[in-house]
Amino acid sequence: MEQILSMNGGSGEQSYANNSIGQSTCLSRSMPVLKQAVLDSCCTNLPETVTMADLGCSSGPNTFYVVSEITSIIYKRCCQLGRSAPEFRVFLNDLPGNDFNTVFQSLPAYQGKLREENGPGFGPLYVAGVPGSFYGRLFPLKTLHFVHSSSSLHWLSQVPPELTDKANPLINKWKIFISKTSPPAVINSYLTQFRKDFSLFLKLRSEEVAPEGRMVLTFRGRTTADPTSDESCLLWDYLGQAFQDLVAEGLVEEERLDTYNTPYYEPHPEEIQAEIEKEGSFTLDRLEVIALPWDSVNGGIKDDRATTAKRMAKAIRAVNESMFRSHFGEDILDPLFHRFIEIMAADTKEVEHVSLVISLIRKT
Ligand SMILES: C[S@@+](CC[C@H](N)C(=O)[O-])C[C@H]1O[C@@H](n2cnc3c(N)ncnc32)[C@H](O)[C@@H]1O
Repeated sequence: MEQILSMNGGSGEQSYANNSIGQSTCLSRSMPVLKQAVLDSCCTNLPETVTMADLGCSSGPNTFYVVSEITSIIYKRCCQLGRSAPEFRVFLNDLPGNDFNTVFQSLPAYQGKLREENGPGFGPLYVAGVPGSFYGRLFPLKTLHFVHSSSSLHWLSQVPPELTDKANPLINKWKIFISKTSPPAVINSYLTQFRKDFSLFLKLRSEEVAPEGRMVLTFRGRTTADPTSDESCLLWDYLGQAFQDLVAEGLVEEERLDTYNTPYYEPHPEEIQAEIEKEGSFTLDRLEVIALPWDSVNGGIKDDRATTAKRMAKAIRAVNESMFRSHFGEDILDPLFHRFIEIMAADTKEVEHVSLVISLIRKT
């Protein structure tokens, strides 16, 4: 995962920066929870330097959006309370393959804009990149006052090992993710991997977050108990169908398809709550569900199905391309997404994109 997963970099047509309106809408919808958590933390004594981290920052307009929000909320609140405003130290984390160059090239313009919007008393704001997996330690002990992550924690640290066992792998026939036809053992292996990863994530952050520090985490999830429901699986089923068609056309070997599984999981709120309680370092302050229509990939504009399918294909490609390329090769990408668009456009089903936003407080 660490070597292979990266969103499409740069700012071209296929880039994540240009195809992340859905994630940006989700981010805006999580703002009330984020704002509350930041304002609550302003009630206590703020340190002279507030240290925050955005985990899975990627590159593009969403990268600085949250940092702008958090720092502006704190600055404005301090001005209202007649307190001196803190300095800010911001760590932007992602996997090493992330396009950090694009992020840092846009930094001076962004810092100027923040000063302009907030006034000359704002800052300073020190920004550093931290390449590495959030399933490992990233920061020194008790240094973080605020942790944010959006649209990232649904990525697992690895494909469940039962599915990649060389001697006797579990086979998820014709599929690339959990589906209605998946054997129960496949579904269990995904849940087990998610539990392990989420619990490890909490433990690692519990070491890095200062007492009473906050985390606001938004990630894809589900509201139905059944992990094979369309809510979680429909788009992956369209993709699986597109791959099957490429197998039928001789463009992809059947064995290649059978050995590809997406390291991704959409948890149910109860699965999240159970892991937070079991790990024990954080109090769950809020858990909210964000449900967005598929039009969110069109910026909320209701379009015809074929147009939405095209936008959805670009959004999915910007996120998954690196992994598909690594397993299946470059040549299948265009035919795969062409077929995906046809399959989605020809269907009439529609489900909502569900995300969960959780606000956590580090116990003292
Ligand atoms: C869909 S993007 C979300 C980007 C941005 N936060 C947003 O809301 O638009 C998910 C990001 O999570 C990163 N990611 C996935 N697994 C990660 C891990 N284990 N450690 C650090 N970053 C990870 C990916 O590389 C990717 O840039």
